[in-house]
Amino acid sequence: MSLYRSAVWLAKGLREYTKSGYEAASQHFSPDDLDVQVSGRAFLVTGANSGLGKTTAMEIAKRGGTVHLVCRDAARSETAKSEILRESGNQNIFLHIVDLSDPKEIWKFVENFKQEHKLNVLINNAGCMVNKRELTEDGLEKNFATNTLGVYILTVALIPVLEKEQDPRVVTVSSGGMLVQKLSTQDLQWERAAFDGTMVYAQNKRQQVVMTEQWARVHPSIHFSSMHPGWADTPGVRRAMPGFHAKFKDRLRTAAQGADTVLWLALAAAASKQPSGLFFQDRKPVPKHLPLARTSCSPTEEEKLMEILEEMAQRFK
Ligand SMILES: NC(=O)c1ccc[n+]([C@@H]2O[C@H](COP(=O)([O-])OP(=O)(O)OC[C@H]3O[C@@H](n4cnc5c(N)ncnc54)[C@H](OP(=O)(O)O)[C@@H]3O)[C@@H](O)[C@H]2O)c1
Repeated sequence: MSLYRSAVWLAKGLREYTKSGYEAASQHFSPDDLDVQVSGRAFLVTGANSGLGKTTAMEIAKRGGTVHLVCRDAARSETAKSEILRESGNQNIFLHIVDLSDPKEIWKFVENFKQEHKLNVLINNAGCMVNKRELTEDGLEKNFATNTLGVYILTVALIPVLEKEQDPRVVTVSSGGMLVQKLSTQDLQWERAAFDGTMVYAQNKRQQVVMTEQWARVHPSIHFSSMHPGWADTPGVRRAMPGFHAKFKDRLRTAAQGADTVLWLALAAAASKQPSGLFFQDRKPVPKHLPLARTSCSPTEEEKLMEILEEMAQRFK
């Protein structure tokens, strides 16, 4: 990452991504936007046993929505499900065990899911930052498999299910970290470049923003958005970025503050009035590039990403 990009990004982060950034932004929120009941609507939240995903699932459950928790670890997710059932009093909570770094498992899950369930809103929240180059059983680099290919397959497989419903939405939890990366399709699994987990993650998050834009273009009946939650204190941040967490822990947002825009995009009537395909922070569309950062790329490169992912996805079907 260029020094310029990292300096501009850090200054922006300290101003906007912290707890005080959230408090300043929230002065402009419409308090009624999340004052909604969504019984009869179905939501699928990935990575719903921890951090932002758990908060999101809990808040939707409290508003009466049917919630599908998609998680990889049975014990951790059973605990989360019980907590959501108990606190929300909502009985329409379903747990599905899926490892989103396993493409075959995702295809199989959707095949079964669509026989029994409907879906109004998909929330691609699960994510990881694995700091060493590790491979899945299929030989895929783990960050790419989870953050990019997994999100691609789950979304594409569920598009026909979403298209049948009223006001369908897809919300993808990206990261402001993507602002330091320009999309690159040359070495998607970091086989050649020096491996830096933070940059691999940032590139995956850039890919999520590009996928969102591309889907919005070709599926006009679904509202797509990507978003940045700010810097929130979650198990994921503590585990993947211990140094960052130690340095900024007093300034980090709560999980509820981080999840606020996820909920707004998933639930608020005002959100679906925004054009599809945008990148959001604190309930507002924000630029996908830092000023003068030269991270924009050609439409051809963006289309190439989609072609490569489609080809890979089909290989695992
Ligand atoms: N917190 C922040 O400051 C921040 C900032 C920018 C973006 N984000 C994004 O926000 C999202 C939520 O992160 P978080 O901070 O809430 O972290 P978290 O507490 O670690 O939650 C991440 C969730 O994703 C799940 N997950 C990871 N790999 C998976 C896989 N292969 N299959 C299924 N589930 C998987 C985790 O499951 P396990 O519990 O089994 O590991 C966990 O439930 C992520 O996409 C992250 O990149 C967070």
